[in-house]
Formats: sequence, C-alpha cells, structure tokens
Amino acid sequence: MPIVEAMLTQRAIRRVKPDPVDDRIVLRCLELALEAPTGSNRQNWEFVVVKDRTVKAKLGAQYRRLWKLYGGLGRRIRSGEQSVKILNSVQWQVDHFEEIPVLVVCCLRGGFRVPFLPQPPIAASSHYGSIYPSAQNLLLAAQSVGLGAALITMPLWSNTVARRILRLPASVEPCCIVALGWPKGRYGSKPRKPVGTVVHLDQYGQQPWRDQAPTTERHHRPGVHSPRIVDQRPATANRQSPAIWRCKHCGALVHPANESAPVAWCARCGRLTESRRDGGD
Ligand SMILES: Cc1cc2nc3c(=O)[nH]c(=O)nc-3n(C[C@H](O)[C@H](O)[C@H](O)COP(=O)(O)O)c2cc1C
Repeated sequence: MPIVEAMLTQRAIRRVKPDPVDDRIVLRCLELALEAPTGSNRQNWEFVVVKDRTVKAKLGAQYRRLWKLYGGLGRRIRSGEQSVKILNSVQWQVDHFEEIPVLVVCCLRGGFRVPFLPQPPIAASSHYGSIYPSAQNLLLAAQSVGLGAALITMPLWSNTVARRILRLPASVEPCCIVALGWPKGRYGSKPRKPVGTVVHLDQYGQQPWRDQAPTTERHHRPGVHSPRIVDQRPATANRQSPAIWRCKHCGALVHPANESAPVAWCARCGRLTESRRDGGD
C-alpha cells in the first residue's frame, strides 16, 4: 500500500472481531513500530502485548470507570452526527473490551528528572514524544495487513493501577494502548480540517492558505477487510497492481489485503502465509 494511501485511510477502528490475531503478525507490526524515532535515539520503549482475558478485563474495568463519566458528559454536551458516531463507537469498544484479541500497551522507560529543578515543557514533550511515533507506525503497519487498530489512553488513566495490572516496574510508564483486531464491517471517510485553517506562515495568525481548496479527496477506506473477506475477493478484484503469491503450505494463489501486506490468509487451507519479500516461497 502506498504511504499516502495508508495515511489517508488509517483511522480509529474500534469495532473488531474476537478472532485471534497471529503472534507473527503482531510481532511484525511491532518490528515496524520500532523503526520510529525516539529522543536522543534512546529507544526506551517497552511494549506489553496483552492477550489474557483477565488482564484485559482489569484494564477494561478502568476504561469503564472513566468512560462512565467522560462518555456521559460527552453525550450531554456534544451533538451532531459525527460526535454521536464516535461516542457510539467508543461505547462499543468499552462494552466489548475483553473480546478485543490484542492490546499493545506502549510504555516508556525512565523519564529523566532532576530533583527540585523545574522542567521546561519541552522535557515532557521530548519524553512522551518518544512513544507516539512508534504507536503511529504500529497503526499504519496494522492497517497494511488489513488489521483494525485504535489508539486509546483512557484505560491507563490511573498510572498506579495500570502499573499494578501489568506488573510494570516503577521505571516503566504505560503511555497508550493500541487495540488490534480484524475489523467488523467497513469504515467510511474520516473528518479532517482543511490544511489552510491550521497552518500559519512565519508567525501565528498569518494564514495565507486559509481559503485554499483541499487537494485530498476523502474516500472510503479500501484496505480494511477481515482476512476472510480478503481471501474471497476474486483475483481480478479492483486493484491497481495486484501482489499475488503462492501459499507456502498448499501452493494456492494468495491475494493479500494490499500490495505491501507482508502476510495474508490462504483461502484454500486457511493458514497464514508470508509474501515472497518476507522469505515465503
Ligand atoms: C492521545 C490519544 C488518545 C486517545 N484516547 C482514546 C481513548 O481513550 N478511547 C478511544 O476510543 N479513542 C481514543 N483516541 C482516538 C481518537 O478518538 C481518534 O483518533 C479520533 O477520534 C480520530 O478518529 P479517526 O481517525 O477515525 O477520524 C485517542 C487518540 C489519541 C491521539
């Protein structure tokens, strides 16, 4: 999948199937997450892959606690189709949290603090800024194999409780969660502001591009399908440059979710198989 298409179509996919996600896919996505930059190249990230239902339930209970307050407030003060859609989709995730197959808790090691010295805001920015590029890479990597992914923080609102649930040492801080699973249904276009309304030239307030028409055409997300839907698509499906390879288990032709997908499910034998680029046959 071309990078521009990936960015245009990546969005918060909260409704996912309970079907398992192969560990190899998760690890491959995490490998790609590690390509991201970190402050001073410290690579001080740690990722906890949560698959255990009990652990998920404990994090889910935390999510529910905050959502009861925040979601209730949201429903009272927000209206409009888009807001209602988001609120309903978060509600679905909150209600089905234990069924989400994989939660990746993205953590950072060792926030550096000089005692009694006030820290400039840039210190916090540099510290937490070291986890979000990797989380974004993880979102994009997940999408490239047709997985649904959503970045969430609410289950971690209490650092102390989250640390206890995950048995994190004091030096490791949970920052955000990327929830992964095969998407239920299809997702439409996403609402974004026109570029000229948030871009300033030289100094804040000078916005010469304010009235510029957007060059991005908002369209439906083409890359998100469950693995079975992917496999059912005919070889001649509407793809510009189909990347097709043979299943390494049974030799059948495999049609991945998109051109750069590293893995796909074989429609004939149902097993996971890698693309040739990743060492498959
Ligand atoms: C720092 C951060 C925290 C977020 N926390 C949550 C969360 O706790 N729960 C949730 O459902 N979505 C959460 N989101 C996802 C946003 O709601 C989502 O990115 C936004 O609605 C845009 O969605 P779209 O890309 O599908 O348009 C978070 C996103 C970010 C960047």
